[in-house]
Amino acid sequence: MSVTKPFPESVLISESCLQNRIRELGTQIFTDYENQELVLLGVLRGSVLFFADLARAIFKAQHESQTREVTLRFEFVQLVSYHDSTQPSTVQLIRGGSDYLKQRHVLIVEDIVDTGRTLNFLCEHLQTLNPKTVKVCTLLDKPSQRQVSVAVDYIGFEIPDTFVVGYGLDYAQQYRNLPYIAVLESI
Ligand code: XMP
Ligand code: MG
Repeated sequence: MSVTKPFPESVLISESCLQNRIRELGTQIFTDYENQELVLLGVLRGSVLFFADLARAIFKAQHESQTREVTLRFEFVQLVSYHDSTQPSTVQLIRGGSDYLKQRHVLIVEDIVDTGRTLNFLCEHLQTLNPKTVKVCTLLDKPSQRQVSVAVDYIGFEIPDTFVVGYGLDYAQQYRNLPYIAVLESI
């Protein structure tokens, strides 16, 4: 099925800016979890590029430290939001979030926190699985749109109230493979 493609312009966060910040986040996360085992829990699909670069940034921090390490495990969940013009969106888990997380340190890796509903749902679900700790790392934060208060421990960039695509984020499943974050000209 073809979708009329709005033109993604302008670049909001460049590729080098993304990579520099992710390198910093990797170092900070490595320091906070050093000598521990950590489950990186990616939220499909938007976080995949960020997840992959963040995991490598944590390894690079370890490589530089030489004496300390963080043992990383990868897990994924997939959530869907159902929108209704009269109700706040309802979130549902459609994949992942298993008993495997029990008594483990879990770091949720998200693409963007907007209203906070998705993250709030996921955090509540994870509590039923008895993890040791749960923290959140998001690449982007849109605090102006928050409807539900959620604690976010690591934030890549705070952005204004604008719809963004690229670096995992989509419009109608397109633009996910842009290596930068862009603002759509018209949607
Ligand atoms: P909430 O509102 O639950 O939203 O915090 C989280 C999910 O909504 C999607 N989202 C976006 N996707 N550009 C996108 O491509 C955006 O500007 C945007 N804002 C929210 C995204 O999937 C996120 O996980
Ligand atoms: Mg997401």
